[in-house]
Amino acid sequence: MNQRKHWNAIAGCYNDEIFDVFASDRNGILKKYFRKFGNRQHIAFDFGCGIGKAFPYLSPAFRKVMAVDISDRCLAEAKIQAFNNIMFQRADLSDNTIELPRVHFVFCCNVIMLPDTEKNLAMFRNIKKSLKKGGTAVIVVPSMESYMFSAWRLIDWYRQEGTPPGEIDRTELSGFTGDITDILQGLVTINGVPTKHYSEAELITLLPRAGLTLKALKKVEYNWDTEFSNPPVWMQAPYPWDWLMECI
Ligand SMILES: C[S@@+](CC[C@H](N)C(=O)[O-])C[C@H]1O[C@@H](n2cnc3c(N)ncnc32)[C@H](O)[C@@H]1O
Repeated sequence: MNQRKHWNAIAGCYNDEIFDVFASDRNGILKKYFRKFGNRQHIAFDFGCGIGKAFPYLSPAFRKVMAVDISDRCLAEAKIQAFNNIMFQRADLSDNTIELPRVHFVFCCNVIMLPDTEKNLAMFRNIKKSLKKGGTAVIVVPSMESYMFSAWRLIDWYRQEGTPPGEIDRTELSGFTGDITDILQGLVTINGVPTKHYSEAELITLLPRAGLTLKALKKVEYNWDTEFSNPPVWMQAPYPWDWLMECI
């Protein structure tokens, strides 16, 4: 898939189409991380900034923010926000040859989720390349465990209401539409788009290949209404989540 074309097509309706991690982060873990690493002397990268949902947190926390995205239309939307310390650049962050300045902090939220393994690895490597010595990257990616658990939750909910798994409408379980090797590699179809999901063990294995060291692996947790419409009140913790990696 051509990522530039794909995200340019979404830019105009981004708020309706794309899940808002910042608004849905039920424990405010992202805000805690911005507070932990924010420094008015430092420069931050927003890798794959989209329409700039992270700007209200990054802009006041850092001297300068460099917002990079492959989509010129997303960047045009992002520029509408009134922050005076944000610089914009259009770039393909999966390009191995890209030149990036080194910064103290890289934030990258739900960008490294392409169906192409090599491109994902190149993005992890570019994050490492752009970190100053002593710098930190906070990377958020979709969780395979969360996807599997949500599917189990749905099947269990149906069962409790008298519908056995075999009778569940298959459109409800449409995430796994690909080839068996795609499924086993965590490629889940979300709104028709194959989206890479990661398991904890996979992240632990992959990050060193990009030269990154995992300092902490946390969950960005969301309420169940981000997965299902009208979830029952008994459906509480554990909640669905994305993985958040603190890396050096
Ligand atoms: C799901 S959005 C997330 C945007 C933002 N990080 C957020 O959390 O709101 C994914 C973004 O990654 C960008 N993207 C995808 N592939 C990219 C690439 N190869 N290089 C740079 N940006 C990319 C898309 O254009 C899109 O804006």
